[in-house]
Amino acid sequence: MGIRILVLGANGQVGFSLAHHAKPALLDTLDAVVSYGRDKVDFTKPDQIVNAMKDVRPDVVINASAYTNVEKAEDEPELARQVNAISVGVLAEQAKKQDAVLVHYSTDYVFDGTSNRPYLETDATNPLSSYGRSKLEGEQFLQQVGGHWVVFRTGWVYAQRGGNFCKTMIRLAQSRDQLNVVDDQRGAPTPASWLAELGLTVAGVAVQSRYKTMGKMAPTFLPDYPQGIPSGEIFNASASGETTWYDYAAMAVELALKKGLVKKMPQINPAKTASMGFKAQRPAYSVLNNSKLKDAFRLNPPEWSRGVKNLIATLDEV
Ligand SMILES: NC(=O)c1ccc[n+]([C@@H]2O[C@H](COP(=O)([O-])OP(=O)(O)OC[C@H]3O[C@@H](n4cnc5c(N)ncnc54)[C@H](OP(=O)(O)O)[C@@H]3O)[C@@H](O)[C@H]2O)c1
Repeated sequence: MGIRILVLGANGQVGFSLAHHAKPALLDTLDAVVSYGRDKVDFTKPDQIVNAMKDVRPDVVINASAYTNVEKAEDEPELARQVNAISVGVLAEQAKKQDAVLVHYSTDYVFDGTSNRPYLETDATNPLSSYGRSKLEGEQFLQQVGGHWVVFRTGWVYAQRGGNFCKTMIRLAQSRDQLNVVDDQRGAPTPASWLAELGLTVAGVAVQSRYKTMGKMAPTFLPDYPQGIPSGEIFNASASGETTWYDYAAMAVELALKKGLVKKMPQINPAKTASMGFKAQRPAYSVLNNSKLKDAFRLNPPEWSRGVKNLIATLDEV
């Protein structure tokens, strides 16, 4: 009766949250949640993707694996392309063959940042980096292959576990008197746990559809989506509001100081991106408009600063 979920990239920020924080009520309706990290399914070895799909036979596969090192991707564009694009195409083909729903995550870095208002899903893409190009090509493979898929485009992701900007700033503040942080890029720090919930919401809709097909009442906690799973759609999915890396760092370090994670407040200097010597070019403005997500899933994204406060409240070390 229940459905089977396969989570790929299970040791990343979103993947770990998917693998470990599914609501118990949802878990009760599932036959299985199988979670594989890179050790089991390596996206540089597409046959491992196909084999895992055949072994697990998921109704819903959630892909949280990705080559996410934006700087390093400039030196390894082919590797980033294999993981973020070519193998995503292989996964999409296999999901289609097996009639599985594919949930995938993409990035605000598909945009060039020249917009003066939050980006819509339909706005022209123009990635500035090797990472952004590889993620955009991954989206394009999904569109070409077809089948049942949903993409959540997000940005500035953080979690308690795993590497992210917020934790890096706190760690640097523990040992440095001064930090230079860019103040000319705007975005919205987004919690991995919420992105995981979105993926599981799609799984919840799949469970609900299964009940309906069988003429049974679906459990009441499941969201009611009479139209079924939105399919073949890209949704912007970021926290609400916007900030700069500078303001984000300042807030995080101040909260870490209050909590005792940082002993002395360092001087935090606003810096221009051009002065930082980054290899990868990043969009100056990558705020996403979440209206389509709000309408389709009838939800309100969390406000970015509240999420960061929650993160620091739960951090015991960085
Ligand atoms: N992080 C961000 O700020 C950000 C921003 C926008 C969009 N996104 C998107 O959101 C999704 C989730 O990102 P995240 O923040 O959870 O990233 P993450 O923490 O870096 O996790 C990515 C996971 O992918 C795995 N991975 C890397 N190369 C792989 C390979 N060859 N085969 C299989 N797995 C591989 C990593 O494995 P290891 O643990 O072994 O390294 C890691 O567990 C991704 O699609 C990402 O592009 C993230």
